[in-house]
Amino acid sequence: MTDLERQAPDSLMLYGFWYRALPSQQVTRNRLHKTTLLETPLVLGRDRMGKPFALRDACPHRGMPLSHGVFDGKQLECSYHGWRFDAHTGQCQLIPSLTSDQELKFDRIYAGSHACEEHDDYIWVFVPEPPPAGAGFTKATEPPAPVPEVPKFGGKFKTAYLTADLPCSVDHGIIGLMDPAHGPFVHQAWWWRSRHSIHEKQKNFEPIPMGFRMSAHTPSSNSAPYKLLRLYADADSITTTIDFVLPNRRYETIQAGKYWFASLTTVTPITRNHCSIDVVACWNIFRWVPFGPSLLKFVFAKFVEQDRQTMEDQSEGLKHNPHLMLIDDADRPAKWYFQLKAAYLEAKRTSAEMKHPMPGPVTLKWRS
Ligand code: FES
Ligand SMILES: [Fe+2]
Repeated sequence: MTDLERQAPDSLMLYGFWYRALPSQQVTRNRLHKTTLLETPLVLGRDRMGKPFALRDACPHRGMPLSHGVFDGKQLECSYHGWRFDAHTGQCQLIPSLTSDQELKFDRIYAGSHACEEHDDYIWVFVPEPPPAGAGFTKATEPPAPVPEVPKFGGKFKTAYLTADLPCSVDHGIIGLMDPAHGPFVHQAWWWRSRHSIHEKQKNFEPIPMGFRMSAHTPSSNSAPYKLLRLYADADSITTTIDFVLPNRRYETIQAGKYWFASLTTVTPITRNHCSIDVVACWNIFRWVPFGPSLLKFVFAKFVEQDRQTMEDQSEGLKHNPHLMLIDDADRPAKWYFQLKAAYLEAKRTSAEMKHPMPGPVTLKWRS
């Protein structure tokens, strides 16, 4: 592999995974909610017990969006010909136009339904492989893995979430997330760092299933929050571990003595050139600070907003499909991401075991 590689994100979306659909708070009980995941239009809602459901937003009869229909807390009635579907299974319950002597077995008809669960402030939806054309809708695909969770290290903690739209493909969203070199230029703030604090860093990475880990290390000393944390936790050691796992997940865990902070950030493809970034953080640090969660959310929001603005600016340049390059070592994680994605797709194509692109632990160096 050459040092300077020209690579273009392919904006391929990975099916067969759980994705964050909407923040729990946004999915109220009294109405139906439209959303899109991986170019698939969905209608989300909650039954009488508050349990969420997700259906394809297209009636299996003639394609009317089911989000235009009426929901009684159990069944969804299509607005066009009144077919009724169970909200959770998608199974057809009634076709009003049928006469008593017509024996259409409508219980074999399904509105496409998706496995759907609520976890850590979000409604997660499983997006299976698109069925072969003409296959029609059947029962929901059983997800092969449980819903991803924010790591937690004890029973008492606070939680906050944040969401933002990014006007770019999922690939640009993800590599923007793992790119260490933009920090000093994009994320300047007096309480965080200045661009003059740029210095040489060395980090160890190791392969993990479906991804890679920035091995536990002591966070860089050039940021005020870490200095504060060290003082507050009165711990000699603060360690940070960052994992990236396909298709779109970045886990960050900071531990200082008995205190911890953990987050799970996802970049979710909405369409080919539009994605959303969602962060959920849990922590037991500063639990007693009255404005702790709002303060943290403020800090987070600032970061995410800086990234969002950057990607919005970048999307202007990307419109005309320029050649792009990834350099060593700062862009190596981005290269791993593309290689992981390719390896995953290849394994699926050949039904073979996935070949991990990293041979073993690697040390990377960059200035940031
Ligand atoms: S399109 Fe839905 S019932 Fe006909
Ligand atoms: Fe960033």
